[in-house]
Amino acid sequence: MVREWRRAPLPPGPRGLPFVGNVRDWPEIGDQPKVFAEWAKKYGPVVHVCVMGQPFVLLNTWTAAHDLMTRRSENYSDRHCNTLIHDDKLSGYGGWHLPMMPYGAKWRVFRKHFHSLFRIQEVEPMRPAILDLSSEFLHHLRNTPNDFRQLIRSYTAKSISKFVFSHDQPLNTEDPYLTLNDELMAEFNGYFFGNVFLVDVFPFLKHIPASWPGAGFKRFAIQHKKKVQDLIDGLHNRLQLAIANGTAEPCMVTRSMEKAAQATGVVSAAEEQLIKCNAMLSYAAGTDTSASVLANFFLCMSMYPEVQKKAQEEVDRVTGGTRLPDFEDREALTYISAVLLESIRWHAPGPVSIPHKSVKEDIYMGYRIPAGSVILGNVAEITHSTDFYENPSEYQPARFLDANWQIIPELEVPIQDAFGFGRRVCPGRHLALESMWILMARIIATHNIGKELDANGKEIEPVIKFTGGVTTHPEPYGCHITARGKIQVD
Ligand code: HEM
Repeated sequence: MVREWRRAPLPPGPRGLPFVGNVRDWPEIGDQPKVFAEWAKKYGPVVHVCVMGQPFVLLNTWTAAHDLMTRRSENYSDRHCNTLIHDDKLSGYGGWHLPMMPYGAKWRVFRKHFHSLFRIQEVEPMRPAILDLSSEFLHHLRNTPNDFRQLIRSYTAKSISKFVFSHDQPLNTEDPYLTLNDELMAEFNGYFFGNVFLVDVFPFLKHIPASWPGAGFKRFAIQHKKKVQDLIDGLHNRLQLAIANGTAEPCMVTRSMEKAAQATGVVSAAEEQLIKCNAMLSYAAGTDTSASVLANFFLCMSMYPEVQKKAQEEVDRVTGGTRLPDFEDREALTYISAVLLESIRWHAPGPVSIPHKSVKEDIYMGYRIPAGSVILGNVAEITHSTDFYENPSEYQPARFLDANWQIIPELEVPIQDAFGFGRRVCPGRHLALESMWILMARIIATHNIGKELDANGKEIEPVIKFTGGVTTHPEPYGCHITARGKIQVD
């Protein structure tokens, strides 16, 4: 047996240089899905590369991703620890940030708490509030249509801050914590994921004094960590103030605190820390991702008027064109559900998801997967695979529907990969899907979305480009949005 493992070759991949391996082949984060797919064409669905001694295994098909990260999830649910991101002396994410946390006992505690807040049974009772929020969105969209990107961002943030922190910020006003959250996300995507750091290769460098030349990474990380703490404390303190003033409604944080106090009458410091961190994290993890899908939706509605028309016809048929669609209409509005799926598929917010890591050595398809390999599921490639989808770069929601206008389950399955894999799958997906679906249905019912117009009223062709990073978005574009139908939104 041991001999067989020793004999098994590594998965194929581009040949690296001595010592540094594939450092020169490793693509920038924005190019990764494309380059990984090119490698897959050459080497097969499972590709191995090694960068400075760190093995990476790239999974480019649905089958390979699920064979490992779902079926063998006990071995493939860890996270890679980057010293700069994880170490408590630097950015300190490893100790509290669920998506970055190594797999183990602490992760289980944080995950269980997070899951208990956002499972489907908790999300369904939020529907009346989600409906109110979507109506507020329509009201502002009608009055300030050019601010649609800003409104999307506020909508996704408020769908968290309202339920988690009982914070009711009007959608057209600026929440300073959302601004801070955006700044931190930009630093995370741009600085930590946009650069390679020596300290990640030589962790002892974390000990050099921050004031030394060459220690810019340390100064940056320490400042970043402080801002993260400001956000965690700021959101929590704002809620405590609202509770003290009697203006706070019951919300996820208050319910968590009550539950934690049930046994002993007090909330321990560790429990309070867990609740504060998970609450802030829901804000950080849930805002940017859903905003990315909604930005795809507006862009594609403007580029594919025939899709928009079909969606409008479906909504009008079901509502008679005299009322806003509701969650009860969901079964009848299958084309709208297909629009949501296609808005995720067309450009998934996390094209290579969040990397997993293997714990023990394993054998797959006759290849040896070394212990400690970083495992990347190429979500962009899976959701654009011609095994599932014809003309995958086209935005065609009808691809998800059968002859009876019902969603085809086998085509829906790969879209779930946009929410990750196995034990690490996104615990916020139910809230995200509910809040995005109803907003899309209601926008389609009440507005026409066209391409941006120039001063002469001529359509401007949008340039389709996406930002790089763990979560990507369409780069800025405009739309010409006008009211439609008889439904009052004000
Ligand atoms: C369209 C919306 C969203 C997308 C596409 C998305 C996608 C993802 C992905 C790809 C992962 C990584 C899974 C893996 O490692 O295999 C993830 C993890 C996570 N997401 Fe989401 N997400 C969305 C919305 C949300 C929302 C609304 C919340 C919070 C309410 C949330 C909270 C989390 C958390 C806490 C994790 C870490 C789970 C863990 O590591 O155990 N996400 N998400």
